[in-house]
Amino acid sequence: MTVGILVVSQSVSRGLSADKVVDALKQRLDGLELKAHKVVPDKKEDIQAAVLDWVRQDIKLILTAGGTGFSKTDITPEAIEPLLDRKAPGLVHAMLSYSLQITPFAMLARPVAGVCGETLIVTLPGSPKGATENFQAIKEIIGHALAQLGTESSRSLHKEARSGHHHHHHHGNLAKHELVDSVVARHRVSPYPAISVDEAYSKISENTPGPEVIEVSILEPRIVGSVVAENVTAQMDVPNFRASIVDGYAVISSDGPGVYPVVSVSHASKNDQKQLVAGQIARITTGAPLPEGADAVVMVEETRLVETTEGGSEEKLVEILAKNVRAGENIRAVGSDTRKESLVLAKGSRISPGGGEIGALASVGVNKIKVYRKPVIGLLSTGNELQDVLAENALHYGEIYDSNRPTLVSMVQNCGYEVVDLGIAPDNKGSLVKIIRDAVDVKKIDCLITTGGVSMGELDLLKPTIENELHGTIHFGRVRMKPGKPTTFATIGRSTVIFALPGNPASSSVCYHLFVLPCLLKWQGIEPALGQKLPTEPIVKVKLAEDLKLDPQRPEYQRVSIRQRDMALVATSTGFQRSSNIASFKKANGLVCLPAASDFGKTVLATGTVVDAILIDQIYM
Ligand SMILES: *[C@@H]1O[C@H](CO)[C@@H](O)[C@H](O)[C@H]1NC(C)=O
Repeated sequence: MTVGILVVSQSVSRGLSADKVVDALKQRLDGLELKAHKVVPDKKEDIQAAVLDWVRQDIKLILTAGGTGFSKTDITPEAIEPLLDRKAPGLVHAMLSYSLQITPFAMLARPVAGVCGETLIVTLPGSPKGATENFQAIKEIIGHALAQLGTESSRSLHKEARSGHHHHHHHGNLAKHELVDSVVARHRVSPYPAISVDEAYSKISENTPGPEVIEVSILEPRIVGSVVAENVTAQMDVPNFRASIVDGYAVISSDGPGVYPVVSVSHASKNDQKQLVAGQIARITTGAPLPEGADAVVMVEETRLVETTEGGSEEKLVEILAKNVRAGENIRAVGSDTRKESLVLAKGSRISPGGGEIGALASVGVNKIKVYRKPVIGLLSTGNELQDVLAENALHYGEIYDSNRPTLVSMVQNCGYEVVDLGIAPDNKGSLVKIIRDAVDVKKIDCLITTGGVSMGELDLLKPTIENELHGTIHFGRVRMKPGKPTTFATIGRSTVIFALPGNPASSSVCYHLFVLPCLLKWQGIEPALGQKLPTEPIVKVKLAEDLKLDPQRPEYQRVSIRQRDMALVATSTGFQRSSNIASFKKANGLVCLPAASDFGKTVLATGTVVDAILIDQIYM
C-alpha cells in the first residue's frame, strides 16, 4: 500500500522553517510504503492539485499535515472536503476522541477524512506530535479500509459489501443510483433496461426543449442552417420601378421605325429624364428606370446613329430599325421579381448555405429576421486516463490521448452549432458537479455531451451525479444497439439536456449522429419527416457491396462509404468495426442500419441487399 504525505505550511513552503512531520510520520508507517511527499502553502488550489495528482497516480492513502486549526489561514479541510466522494466520519471521530484524552485543545481541530476515487484521504494536525498521535489512533483500522478500497480482493469482499450498505432503490423501470465508488460494490448488471432505438427516439422527442425565437442579422454566420420562425413578406415591389433589361433607347412603341431625337439619358444611378412624348426617344442603360411616357426599350444593336451634337460628344438623332416593337418589350415590370405582400421566406424553411435566401431578404430590404435559436453545446470528456492532445504532454503508462472530444468538437461545429469545450473532467464527483454547474449556469450551454464514464466501470460517476447532485432525470441509460449500448440521455430542469456517450470514439460518433443530432435538429425547430419521431440527417436506400454479418442480439449501425455506381448508391464497409477504432470512421459518409440476426431470422445480409443508411456526410465522386 502506497502513502503520500502532503505538508500544508506557509513557512515550510517558503523555506522559513524546516519540516519535521514527514520524518515523524515515516517512522510510524510500518508496512506502508511512502511513495511521495510534498510541501504546499495554505492555498486551496495547491492542496487540491497535489492531492488529485496523487489520486491519479493511484496512491492509496494520502495524509495531509497542517492547516486544520481555527486560524484564518487554516483551509486544509475546505480544500479536501469537495474532493471527497464519500466521507469517513468514523475516522474523524476516532482521531478526535484519542486527542481529547491528551489535550482539550483537540476541540479546536477540524479534521476531515474520506474517499476520493480509490484513495483514502485523512487530514492530520501540523505538529509532529499531533500528527503522529492522530495517525496512531486510526492506523490499525486504516488497513481494513484500504483493503476494501483495493481491487485485488474484490471477490472475497463482494458478498459482504452487497449485504452491507449498498441498497439500490428501484423506481419503476429506472433505478435511482447511489454513488458507487469501490469496485466491490459496483453494479454487475446495469440497473437500466436496454430500450430499443425507437423507444429512445420517443424519449428524446418528448424531452427536447421547444425552440426559442431570436432575431438575427442576415450576415451573422449562425443564421446559416437556422430555421425561419416567421413568415417574411415583401414590404415593397422588386423592382419598384419599370427597369430596362438592355442598353438601348426608351421609345413609345406606337411610333414605329424611323429617325428620332434623343431627348434625355437614363442611367441606373442618375437620370435627368423628362416625360417622353410621341416622336421622341431617350438613351437608357441596363437596369435604369424608364422615363414616363415610354412603354418599350429597343436595344442598341437595332438602331443607327444619324447625327451627333456639335463637338460630337452626344447623340442627337438616332434611327430606330426594329419593327413591330410591342409595348412592354425589354422592360422589367414593377413587382415582376417580387410582388409587394408576397411571401419571401416561409416560417419553417431553412436558410441554406447557398446564400439564396439571404439574397432574397436583402432584395426586399430585410436585414434581420426571426429564427429559432440553435442550442449551444458543451463537450466534456471524463476519465483519469485521458491526456489532452493539445496540452502536448507525454503519456504516462496506461494513459491515452483523448480523441473523443476533438472528434466531437469538429462534428458539432461542422453541423453549425456553437461549441464550448469543457476539457477533461477527472473521475471524481466534486469536480464533475462543479464543471457541469459552471457549464450550465455560467457558460450557458444548453446541451452537454460527455464521453466516457457510462459503462459498468467502477468510476461511472455520471449517472449518480446527474440524479443525486444535479437533481436531473435519466430518461434512458442503455439502448439495444451496437455500438453505443451504454448511451445515456438525461435532462436537468426543463432546458438542459445531457447526452452521456460511451468512451469509445467510434461509438460516440455513431451515437452523436443517431441520437444527439436529431435532438439538436428538433430543438432548433426542424420538423421530422412524415411518420418519424425526430428529424434526422437524410436517410437513403443503399445496396450492400459485400455480405455483412449481423449481430446476434442487437441492431447494428455500421460505418460505410457510400458511392454512386450505375445509377444506384452502393455501400462498402469501411473495415474493422471494433468500437475503439476511430480510423474506421475516416472514409465513412454513412451508417447502414442492420437488423439483429434474432429479429431478422438470418445471420448475414447478402451482397446487393438494399438497406437504409443515414447519410452523415456528402456523397463524393
Ligand atoms: C405563412 O405563410 C403560409 C403560406 O402562405 C401560410 O399558409 C401560413 O398560414 C402563414 N403562417 C403564418 C403564421 O402567417
